[in-house]
Amino acid sequence: MTLSIPRLIGHRGAARHAPENTLAGMREGALQGALWVELDVKLTRNGVPILMHDDDLDRTTNGHGPAAAMDFEDMRRLDAGSWFGAEFRGERVPTLAEAIQAAQLLDINLNLEIKPCPGRDEQTAGIALSLALTLWPADRPPPLVSSFSVEALEMAKIVAPHWPRGYLMDEEPTDWAAIADRLEATTININAKRQSADSIKAFRATGRPVLAYTVNEAEQARQLFQWGVAGVFTDTPKGLYQGLTGKS
Ligand code: G3P
Ligand code: MG
Repeated sequence: MTLSIPRLIGHRGAARHAPENTLAGMREGALQGALWVELDVKLTRNGVPILMHDDDLDRTTNGHGPAAAMDFEDMRRLDAGSWFGAEFRGERVPTLAEAIQAAQLLDINLNLEIKPCPGRDEQTAGIALSLALTLWPADRPPPLVSSFSVEALEMAKIVAPHWPRGYLMDEEPTDWAAIADRLEATTININAKRQSADSIKAFRATGRPVLAYTVNEAEQARQLFQWGVAGVFTDTPKGLYQGLTGKS
């Protein structure tokens, strides 16, 4: 199935409006009109794929210490919503399985960013994508699988060869084009802050759509689209839409 990339992709759900990487966040992204949301996927100590950005639990839950040091059953007791707002109290750390089910119900697609805790690159991609493959409905377009970890993307190529891969970069290595080729990357996902007309031109010259993170201002989005960026990750899909169109 061809990848149809929307202009606006909800970042960690809709991170400005609901706690990131939660089911409430996915719902908020969908309600704001995002056709895709991006989610960060890592493993609990006992190998359950869950949604979380940081290596540590402290910022986005009431837990402490490394996520990789806690079993799922304990992580599940944590509150992943109160830190963001009282109305989100009781929001749990979702499993990847729950996120896949929610995406179907909300009729949105996902960008699964594999976000391994240190030293767990291959394992995270292997376990998360093996599970996702068994759960993904055959009649829906596949998710975009991305990662900053080349090791994780190499594993993604083995485990889910037919699912599109996004080569995610912050500061691009000089051999980024060779790496993208080796990974058979479908998209190039880059840090919006570092870009210029020339850099986008170079990425696009490889024939790949370019996605840029994280873009919350209309002026920046307009500039990136003008340079040829296909889609942007935004914490505020509705806000950015309104900024771009002047409409609510
Ligand atoms: O996938 C785009 C973006 O989410 C990458 O950066 O740190 O927000 O996961 P980060
Ligand atoms: Mg991310």
